[in-house]
Amino acid sequence: DAEMSLICLSDFEAYAKDHLPKATWEYYAAGADDCCTRDDNLLAFKRIRLRPRMLRDVSVTDTKTTVLGTEISCPIGIAPTAFHCLAWPDGEMSTARAAETLNLCYVASTYSTCSVEEIVTAAPDGFRWFQLYVYRDRKLSEQLVHRVEALGFKALVLTVDVPYTGKRRSDIRNNFRLPPHLKVKNFEGVFEEHCGPDNYGVPANTLDPSISWKDIYWLRSLTRLPIIIKGILTKEDAELAVEHGVQGIIVSNHGGRQLDGELATIDALSEIVDAVQGRIEVYIDGGIRTGSDVLKALALGAKCVFIGRPIVWGLAYKGEEGVRGVLQILTDEFRLSMALSGCRNVAEINRNLIQFSKL
Ligand code: FNR
Repeated sequence: DAEMSLICLSDFEAYAKDHLPKATWEYYAAGADDCCTRDDNLLAFKRIRLRPRMLRDVSVTDTKTTVLGTEISCPIGIAPTAFHCLAWPDGEMSTARAAETLNLCYVASTYSTCSVEEIVTAAPDGFRWFQLYVYRDRKLSEQLVHRVEALGFKALVLTVDVPYTGKRRSDIRNNFRLPPHLKVKNFEGVFEEHCGPDNYGVPANTLDPSISWKDIYWLRSLTRLPIIIKGILTKEDAELAVEHGVQGIIVSNHGGRQLDGELATIDALSEIVDAVQGRIEVYIDGGIRTGSDVLKALALGAKCVFIGRPIVWGLAYKGEEGVRGVLQILTDEFRLSMALSGCRNVAEINRNLIQFSKL
């Protein structure tokens, strides 16, 4: 049975690589320039060693936790990634159903190929956040904010690491763009009159590279939703995030797709957790591929992890069922890692699990 042959996230990666059109595969896989940071995200997890505890009665283990006060079944969520319909016909709708079934947090991308309304209709009871960019035309961001707030999204995730798109060589060589039958549905009717150059088939020069910390106050003034900043990598910026009154940070380097040579996210986590001192929640994405990676991130202070590329691998395999498969495997591996390290629940996961002398 083909299903049983996929037993870890790398198996889904191999399947996606074999079955997606080459340019699509390369778009999902891409990192910036030499891909040092993309690859280091994974390698940095592999460098960390664990100090497991024994004889702690792990006959019952509980992976439940909360993010911003909402209970989720496991501290593993779906990072925002663009263009899910490239991997599976109904794309984000399948992603949303899988997340709803498993009671996990799904961060929907602005660059979804289903609209936010379609996502909500597909999975009305799902727990979702919306990933936002700031547009030169502030009205556009403002409209999106009000739209998703009315639709029941529970937080805004403001991505701050894309003043410009990173240089991804494979996409340039492939002249990769969204095929004409797919649309960034959230923009329908919005960029209709835009006739300038585009980027991936999406109007270019629409994101505002002039955004700065004061725009956090502007966003704050638009909405009562919690604001989470995605793309922080230093304690200095983490401190500024706290000072500007946001509710959370996602430590992220955009999967290594922006500034090549910047540090791996798991290597950035500790100084950020130390700076924040529990004042706001800290999450992480980038390179999480096994249950022990999740355990390491939580041991170093992350409240929840998010996965990007593995979700599109799941979609490429079998839509909703594939995404469920990816998330279930990672959840099961995490539960096993918890038990093997002597943790009965996520509150018992702490820094003592990390062998710091090795780092
Ligand atoms: C992304 N990412 C991303 N981030 C974001 O805020 N908005 C977006 O639209 C996208 N789109 C996107 C597309 C693709 C194909 C990838 C691979 C990534 C970044 C994403 O949220 C996340 O930071 C990384 O994907 C996490 O790394 P892993 O799990 O892919 O290693």
